[in-house]
Amino acid sequence: MIKDQIKNLIEEKSACIGVIGLGYVGLPLIVEFTSKGFQGIGFEVDQKKVDSINNGDSYIVDVSDEDVQKCIDSGKMTATTDFSQLEKCDVIIICVPTPLRKTKDPDMSYILAAGDEIQKYMRPGQLVILESTTYPGTTDEILQPIFEKAGFKLNEDFLLAFSPERVDPGNAQFQTHNIPKVVGGVGEDSTEVASLLYSKIVNEVHSVTSSRVAEACKLWENTFRAINIGMANEMAKLCNTLGIDTWEVVKAADTKPFGFMAFYPGPGLGGHCIPLDPHYLSWKARQHGFDSQFITLAEEINSGMPEYVVKLVADALNENKKAVNGSKVLILGVAYKKDIDDMRESPALSVIDLLRSKGAEVAYHDPFVPEVTFDHAYTIGDGEPLYSKDFSDDLIKDADCVVICADHSDVDYAKVTELSNLIVDTRNALNKEVRENSNSKIIRL
Ligand SMILES: NC(=O)c1ccc[n+]([C@@H]2O[C@H](COP(=O)([O-])OP(=O)(O)OC[C@H]3O[C@@H](n4cnc5c(N)ncnc54)[C@H](O)[C@@H]3O)[C@@H](O)[C@H]2O)c1
Repeated sequence: MIKDQIKNLIEEKSACIGVIGLGYVGLPLIVEFTSKGFQGIGFEVDQKKVDSINNGDSYIVDVSDEDVQKCIDSGKMTATTDFSQLEKCDVIIICVPTPLRKTKDPDMSYILAAGDEIQKYMRPGQLVILESTTYPGTTDEILQPIFEKAGFKLNEDFLLAFSPERVDPGNAQFQTHNIPKVVGGVGEDSTEVASLLYSKIVNEVHSVTSSRVAEACKLWENTFRAINIGMANEMAKLCNTLGIDTWEVVKAADTKPFGFMAFYPGPGLGGHCIPLDPHYLSWKARQHGFDSQFITLAEEINSGMPEYVVKLVADALNENKKAVNGSKVLILGVAYKKDIDDMRESPALSVIDLLRSKGAEVAYHDPFVPEVTFDHAYTIGDGEPLYSKDFSDDLIKDADCVVICADHSDVDYAKVTELSNLIVDTRNALNKEVRENSNSKIIRL
């Protein structure tokens, strides 16, 4: 019986685990399995990533070179672009991107491509798990038929499950092993075997009755965040209108030990997940005639934040009798959040683009991001790439306005307030002490 066969391989740790897509999600995952004694084969379309891993070099901030090197040296882990090796795998985990199309509809092409490669080399006795974030129904409506068309039968030849990835890049406290894993199979056998597998690498597995519940769970989590951040952004604008310190209000509200969870305003949503995932849910709901008003409203508020930040800059410059046009604006931090190098959907790009479209001369400093490029399909400013400037006294002094978009730890904010006369702080990066000892005008969200 396929269930017992794969369970035995997992218990004995002789199962070979294939991971398709070695990015922010796939690389930590294969390292975790390999470090726990499983054989791991990573499948990638990007030859540079394959070479890097096989040379023991990590390109993901949460995975050290040392860990990758150890897995390679143990002979347990390899990376390849040769998908025919999928045949060797007892478990195949799909971690490919799930972006949106320009129309904001789900782009399923990566999942379809992975499914297609798997069916080409499929053999009886494999468990396939999808980890990419996607709408409810993907696992049983898209993947299952691909394998069945190739002549394989669920529960007899293969098992199939969905388990959402919850990794939070840059979060030192919560990493793969101590983030509870939700697992939902297409049928009981798949749930049982996939849950057993994850129990070997994470402290807690929470099994649910179907892949659709697991898919919806992930989207619920991220929609919750998008909506709450949307509320925090609206409250920040409201507090600004009333002349109340937003950050002091959130800090005070957060002292309530129940019924409140702090979310913070910022220059807009960023990263591969929060700005995109709610669209996967609302798209699927719309197919069934249901319109999600909360998702639409949060999207409207959050996507309007870069414009709001630019308005704060324009108003502040205006008070100094300057126009945006011709002013020098320095952006501090362009990554989508603190202390990481991830630029995907970063709101700083929109802030820069809007400022440049109004004639500002924009420069940036980010210790994690040496260069930023702009997608011409969306650009309204000049779209020229920018390169991070070294942090220096002159850089700060030269700027008519400094805008803090990501509050990286490794930036001397005391120096910024000492040398700049106008700062727009969208992250509350400047603490009370720094603000009180400053002569510069500081505008906060
Ligand atoms: N980054 C996160 O924090 C995070 C958190 C939770 C969930 N997710 C979800 O996990 C999935 C992967 O995200 P990510 O951040 O790891 O993306 P990523 O872009 O960092 O990595 C995906 C990798 O897949 C590779 N790839 C693309 N097509 C492939 C194919 N056909 N075969 C093999 N490899 C292929 C790409 O080259 C890339 O290296 C997405 O669905 C995302 O929404 C991401």
